Amino acid sequence: MFDVAPENFELEDTGMYVCVCHALTDRHVREDAQAGAKSAGAVFSRRGVRPVCGKCVGCMRSVLDETRKGRSDQHQYHDEPECQAAE
Ligand code: FES
Repeated sequence: MFDVAPENFELEDTGMYVCVCHALTDRHVREDAQAGAKSAGAVFSRRGVRPVCGKCVGCMRSVLDETRKGRSDQHQYHDEPECQAAE
């Protein structure tokens, strides 16, 4: 049989992509929200990037809102229209 993963290999849970232009995940957005970011612009600013297509802004706002409401689990609403625009 093939060994496909080295011993002690752990798949890192990196989250789901919110911004494909900058490879930002919901985890990144939550980190930024917990550090005080209140808008998509603040997330871009904290990450040192500028919006490219802007299709992620609605989804990013949704993740920011979830975080503000104290939901710390992985982004649950990726099927909603504001999130589908980024995919
Ligand atoms: S998906 Fe975020 S700027 Fe394009």
